Amino acid sequence: MSGKQTISLADSSATYHLGQRLGQLLSPGWIILLEGDLGAGKTTLVQGLGAGLEIPENIESPTFTLINEYHSGRVPLYHLDLYRLEPSEVEPLNIELYWEGIEVPAGITAIEWAERLPYQPADFIQIRLKHQDDGSRLAEIIYPESLPLIL
Ligand SMILES: Nc1ncnc2c1ncn2[C@@H]1O[C@H](COP(=O)(O)OP(=O)(O)OP(=O)(O)O)[C@@H](O)[C@H]1O
Ligand SMILES: [Mg+2]
Repeated sequence: MSGKQTISLADSSATYHLGQRLGQLLSPGWIILLEGDLGAGKTTLVQGLGAGLEIPENIESPTFTLINEYHSGRVPLYHLDLYRLEPSEVEPLNIELYWEGIEVPAGITAIEWAERLPYQPADFIQIRLKHQDDGSRLAEIIYPESLPLIL
């Protein structure tokens, strides 16, 4: 069972604030799968997430480094960007270690280009960002029924 919300994001600060709200609401262990075309706003949302988690550092997308870890906030943030990878290249990376939180402290895992995942975690929040003709974005959020999301 799952819930679904569609939210209109008029500008980049709206995208940021959606991420910030999620950062304030979510407990360690949650995974956010971010999907959407080039420049749809995925990194902007993760920057807001970092603010919601009270991470003082600048968040930049790990397009080349694949993963950035932030341990200076209220809860750890694991920020992945799979843009440069094929699903078959993601498989051997064992990225489930991040969302299992066994070998690393439990945190929030945010994955850009989650379309490239060869497998999915059991529970996750999926956010699809879409370009609109007027330059704004639409966010489609799909989340488990167990999560009372008030955004
Ligand atoms: N709701 C919005 N309306 C208009 N512009 C936005 C919105 N949200 C973010 N942007 C802008 O879109 C641009 C691209 O954002 P961002 O880098 O976050 O996208 P991305 O999905 O991470 O891109 P990539 O596919 O390269 O990873 C930035 O200039 C950002 O400020
Ligand atoms: Mg990005």
